[in-house]
Amino acid sequence: MSAVSPVRDLVTFLSSAVRSPAVIGAVAPSGRALSDLLASVVPADGRPVVVELGPGTGVVSGAVRRRLPLGGRHLAVEIDPGMVEHLRGTRPWLEVVQGDAADLQKLLADAGVDRVDAVVSGLPWTLFPENAQRGIIEQVTRVLAPGAPFTTFAYSHVRVLPTQRRFRAVLEEAFSEVRVTPTVWRNLPPALAYQCRHPR
Ligand SMILES: C[S@@+](CC[C@H](N)C(=O)[O-])C[C@H]1O[C@@H](n2cnc3c(N)ncnc32)[C@H](O)[C@@H]1O
Repeated sequence: MSAVSPVRDLVTFLSSAVRSPAVIGAVAPSGRALSDLLASVVPADGRPVVVELGPGTGVVSGAVRRRLPLGGRHLAVEIDPGMVEHLRGTRPWLEVVQGDAADLQKLLADAGVDRVDAVVSGLPWTLFPENAQRGIIEQVTRVLAPGAPFTTFAYSHVRVLPTQRRFRAVLEEAFSEVRVTPTVWRNLPPALAYQCRHPR
């Protein structure tokens, strides 16, 4: 087992991105400011259960961990075996679940979880066809506790493209509250977050 190393994280991320570009969907891991913004919806008290989708090399996981109160639970659903191995080797505090976010309800039931206090996503939504986006969002709405948040990010420069607009429409169909944060400029590329609550 080894400690978190930004260089090792980056090497793992880049080699997975080159090997499976259609699964990873980004050129670099999220930066610290975006990771902190994503983690900001995590309840800061009680014993919350937090689920991350698509943790990659774990930068957002680190931000969630910094915020999560003692006694909270932090599960991360990751499909890429290389990322799973990396996470298990570098972040032993994380409950890594190897699987597809499309099977979220079952994966969580197998882990003994039936309600979630926040879902934080790093999934590459624009790579998914619309029915796959809907399927995963539906799974998320089924596991969220009442009032609990779902958050995800989008690159600001593609926000006006049809794929992004379609994804935003999927979110608005599924949630009665969809907030868009200001752009985080200290990210490569600059990105914003959607913060959603109250499944319809
Ligand atoms: C853009 S990377 C984001 C990594 C990290 N959260 C970040 O922000 O730097 C997307 C991650 O989602 C994972 N992923 C893609 N499709 C997935 C799926 N259906 N279920 C779970 N993870 C998935 C990829 O393997 C990759 O690790």
